[in-house]
Amino acid sequence: MNRGLFITFEGPDGSGKTTQIERLKSFIQSKGYDAILTREPGGTPISEKLREIVLDKHNMEMDYMTEALLYAAARAQHVAQVIKPALDVGRTVICDRFMDSSIVYQGYGRGLGDCVRIINEYAVRGCFPDITFLLKVDPEIGKLRIKADEQDRLELEKLDYHKAVFQAYEELEKKYPERIIGIDAGRSIDEISKEIKEHIDRLLG
Ligand code: ADP
Ligand code: TYD
Repeated sequence: MNRGLFITFEGPDGSGKTTQIERLKSFIQSKGYDAILTREPGGTPISEKLREIVLDKHNMEMDYMTEALLYAAARAQHVAQVIKPALDVGRTVICDRFMDSSIVYQGYGRGLGDCVRIINEYAVRGCFPDITFLLKVDPEIGKLRIKADEQDRLELEKLDYHKAVFQAYEELEKKYPERIIGIDAGRSIDEISKEIKEHIDRLLG
């Protein structure tokens, strides 16, 4: 049996990942493929517990390395319990954020550097995305789309942090042009969705 397609979505908070993922799942299913939708941090009971800890607004004293390791731990469980088993039986997996988020938010944003990539290579054990959609929108605009009372610990970081993260995403896009597809996410939901479907159509044949 062929391994399923592993699709990830990346981008600033409020860039429209959740909105587009829902649409893409319906599109893929309408073509007769078995697709599952999942998210990070989260996707398993253990990873959802780690999500609560890492995003809790009250945990403001959290050390940056602790933060990076919690994201990686949640990911290790997610890969082992959900993503890899699904891909192994040929299912398409669509994941809201993955390893690239750690590289930009912890590696660049927190200044932890390349150790974040290395830690995550241990966490994912060879399970890398086939294609990644990077929804590109100015972090300021993304922030305006999210209600103030719904912002988590990371979303509450200063705008400078989110700008640095966005720049890092653009660097990753240049570094992995065969995998990461940059999408102008300042457009309408329909326009963005049409472009994403065209890419997936080409991949699925
Ligand atoms: P993310 O998962 O990246 O944080 P969401 O899909 O949850 O983003 O979208 C955040 C908010 O912005 C939601 O209220 C959503 O309806 C809205 N939104 C999503 N895409 C667009 C778009 N292209 N233009 C304007 N608003 C959008
Ligand atoms: P998420 O729930 O995807 O937020 P949103 O839907 O608003 O984009 O992710 C929560 C936060 O966690 C988000 O600000 C990005 C951050 N994050 C990291 O810093 N590192 C990671 O590895 C992941 C997966 C997320």
